[in-house]
Amino acid sequence: TYARADTSPLLGFSGVPLQTAQDFDRVDIAPGYQARPFFSWGDAVLADAPPWQPDASDDWQAQLKQSGDNHDGMHYFPFPDAPNEHGLLVINHEYINPTLHTNGLNFVDGKRPLEEVRKEQAAHGLSVIEIRKDAQGQWQRVLPSPYNRRLSALTPIRISGPLAGHELMKTASDASGCEVLGTLNNCSSGITPWGTYLMCEENWHYYFLNRDNVDYAQRVSHQRYGISNKASSLLYAWETADPRFDVTPVADQPYAGHAQEPHRFGWVVEVDPFDPASQPVKRTAFGRFCRECAVLSMGQDGRMAYYSGDDTKGEYVYKFVPSGRFDAANPLASRDLLDAGTLYVARFDADGSGQWLALVHGQNSLTAENGFPSQAHVLLNARAAADMAGATPMDRPEWVAVHPETREVYISLTNNDDRGDKQPVNAANLRPGNLHGHIVRWNEKDGDPTATEFQWEIFLLAGEHPGARNASGQPVPANLIGTIDGDIFSSPDGLAFDGAGRLWIETDAEQAPELMQSMGCNQLLCADPKTREVRRFLVGPRGCEITGITWTPDYTSMWINIQHPKLSYPASDGKTRPRSTTVLITKNDGGVIGN
Ligand code: FEO
Ligand code: CA
Ligand code: CA
Ligand code: CA
Repeated sequence: TYARADTSPLLGFSGVPLQTAQDFDRVDIAPGYQARPFFSWGDAVLADAPPWQPDASDDWQAQLKQSGDNHDGMHYFPFPDAPNEHGLLVINHEYINPTLHTNGLNFVDGKRPLEEVRKEQAAHGLSVIEIRKDAQGQWQRVLPSPYNRRLSALTPIRISGPLAGHELMKTASDASGCEVLGTLNNCSSGITPWGTYLMCEENWHYYFLNRDNVDYAQRVSHQRYGISNKASSLLYAWETADPRFDVTPVADQPYAGHAQEPHRFGWVVEVDPFDPASQPVKRTAFGRFCRECAVLSMGQDGRMAYYSGDDTKGEYVYKFVPSGRFDAANPLASRDLLDAGTLYVARFDADGSGQWLALVHGQNSLTAENGFPSQAHVLLNARAAADMAGATPMDRPEWVAVHPETREVYISLTNNDDRGDKQPVNAANLRPGNLHGHIVRWNEKDGDPTATEFQWEIFLLAGEHPGARNASGQPVPANLIGTIDGDIFSSPDGLAFDGAGRLWIETDAEQAPELMQSMGCNQLLCADPKTREVRRFLVGPRGCEITGITWTPDYTSMWINIQHPKLSYPASDGKTRPRSTTVLITKNDGGVIGN
């Protein structure tokens, strides 16, 4: 019943088929292209890193010098003298897999061994690696390099902006409220026009435990973010080995203990990749939530917006508008532009219009009587402030992409099985039982990134073609049918535009057998924003999500990340433990990817 239009002038490659085999353990790519593993968990970052041990016996000091786990958001920063041949690749390490250790995560007498916890903390954060084309035109990692650097959950990071030094940021481990150890769960990212990288703290709440149920129920800064009050629901039980993650309050002493440690996560961390001695900075003007990304749109006059999704069922879409503007003639003046500005949250109205609601103390009911005594409280409890302001609850907002010419903004809403059940449908999240997700796009009024009004529409609903039948010949239920013109997919996550205006879509569908049957392994696809045609460019190994995407400025080299493969990728030999891996993609004729 489905006939492809096949009219897009942008999609210059032949699509690849779905992969539904349970033992699929490699990357398949469009004909005429190559995809090769480039940088895997355990590879050397610092020159004195020991070689990765296939039995995962490396200790935590080794891990601090090697690539972290679960590669996610990433960006290629070119050197100006040879931008397409020499650069810094900057890669987030979101979280860890049990394969980090020889025999998974262990408990001894109910506690995690400190050595294991330290290795997990060391495998989080960021890698900066220098890369360069050799005499044969092949990309190589440069080692040693003065730029190569690892950040982890143990790296001291400065806190700046409205919350720096605030009472709400003080803990037993930092009486100043100005410096925090580490960054957690860095999912997607962003860049600034002055050449820095923004790493975003997403699911940081899973690392903390507050055992005091009464305090938990009252403390919005814990409860509204889903910080656990039950040890059983924690990811890694770090609190059994590292007291900083036990955030149960000390009676009658609000700033003693670690109850406020979670206030120090959920921010944007700015890193200067070209200055390895610089200290990373948490920018608190962006507000605190489970931030997926911070994606720039800049107007002709240098005024900026940074868009972010909060990837949890029923959470919101935000944008941060710095007060100042970027001055290309004086980039150093931009150093602290991210410390002052206005945080907005989106309301998507049923008539296709939208409003950006300012999360500013004294506006939109954000008053002391309503629980927001100051702007610091608004930013710290941005989710509760957005509830109060009347934002639209979305189907797990993930990445944002901004069209390079029109500045039209796209966001992936990955899926939400609670929609229509625990969460009522709304115009922008209209499909009950939304297992496959959708993509929404909008235009800011007059194309101005800082506007407070916009016009939005649904770009596509992911899922199967109308009339699709399942393996037993039964019609597929309506909630799994989408509007895709072209190759089907589920659960859009990573989104990015290339310079020609191709929209690249990366998927993170749960690998449950019934979804695998129709949608297969996760994928990288390409869409034409004008014709809305979608074509599948690549499929990844079983169990992985596809995430992270960046290019050289000429778009002839592309890198993506294979996160948490399940079988043996990248060895693909059926026995070596799987490793999250950055993959380099090139066209055999050296041309522009996708053209
Ligand atoms: Fe870490 Fe929302 O993906
Ligand atoms: Ca993601
Ligand atoms: Ca995801
Ligand atoms: Ca992920």
